[in-house]
Amino acid sequence: MALISSDISQAASLLKTGALVAIPTETVYGLAGNALNGTTVAKIFEVKNRPSFDPLIVHVPDLHQCLRYVQEIPEVLKPLAQKFWPGPLTLLLPRKKIIPDLVTSGLDRVALRVPSHPLTLALLKELDFPLAAPSANPFGYISPTTAAHVEAQLGKKIPYILDGGACEVGLESTIVGLESGQVTVYRLGGLAVDELEELVGPVQVKDHSSSNPQAPGLLESHYAPRTPFRLGTLSELIEEALQQGIRFAVLSFSKTFDAVPTDRQVRLSPREALSEAAQNLFAAMRSWMMRMWS
Ligand code: TXA
Ligand code: MG
Repeated sequence: MALISSDISQAASLLKTGALVAIPTETVYGLAGNALNGTTVAKIFEVKNRPSFDPLIVHVPDLHQCLRYVQEIPEVLKPLAQKFWPGPLTLLLPRKKIIPDLVTSGLDRVALRVPSHPLTLALLKELDFPLAAPSANPFGYISPTTAAHVEAQLGKKIPYILDGGACEVGLESTIVGLESGQVTVYRLGGLAVDELEELVGPVQVKDHSSSNPQAPGLLESHYAPRTPFRLGTLSELIEEALQQGIRFAVLSFSKTFDAVPTDRQVRLSPREALSEAAQNLFAAMRSWMMRMWS
């Protein structure tokens, strides 16, 4: 079992020894370690059971610190960093050699972000190294949005979970970079494309090229609960499941369905707010699965 607490200095001491600590961010919890220490970075891959061709995001306390690890921030991306950091934006930027190869899986760009969570920002300010942190779930599973989620999946493998409460955004950061001069979104996430476009004009979205290790987080199987999971028009799926006698539960945006018992329904946002639905998504998948199948 990991120790779960909100003590920044304890988290900092462990990180300074090269240990891994789970940290809260506004998006999801991260499994953090010293990004400049190759042994620690290797441990992150091992604990997460993550293939080494899937690179890690590096977390820094502010834009200024980011410049220690990248050659430059292209002019067009600067307004994004200025406006959305701290926040759910990750930028792919040309790395300096100080970033170990393992962090970027040998790619020339490093993914950087300034997370918006008071505990983690305070922690980053106390350290003289940045934190590499993938989402704190075993590879292929749902990302954790509370300390308890992290404990359930990785508690036996790490000494400490910095408890910062439930994540406010609840979805991973939006990953953005420059490709042939065009602002490109590589992973859709907590920061909406509209918000990016307001600042930099039209962007291209390349979130669909699955199984391409050059593209982030887009393997064929990702965010995979172990329970069979169906996407579709809910009323049709419900009818089909009822007819076939399949045991099921419903995860809906806002609607309720009379044909389904209320304890088998989770509404992500009764008031139809996308941000609220996003915040509840991973937690809902968990609670719902646990009720049905544990
Ligand atoms: O919100 C988030 O981004 C969370 C919190 C903890 O910051 N982190 C997160 O990390 O979602 P992870 O490892 O679960 O997803 C990071 C994605 C991966 O799919 C990876 O392929 C991509 O970012 N990525 C990281 N570095 C990259 C690079 N140098 N080039 C291309 N893609 C990269
Ligand atoms: Mg992840």
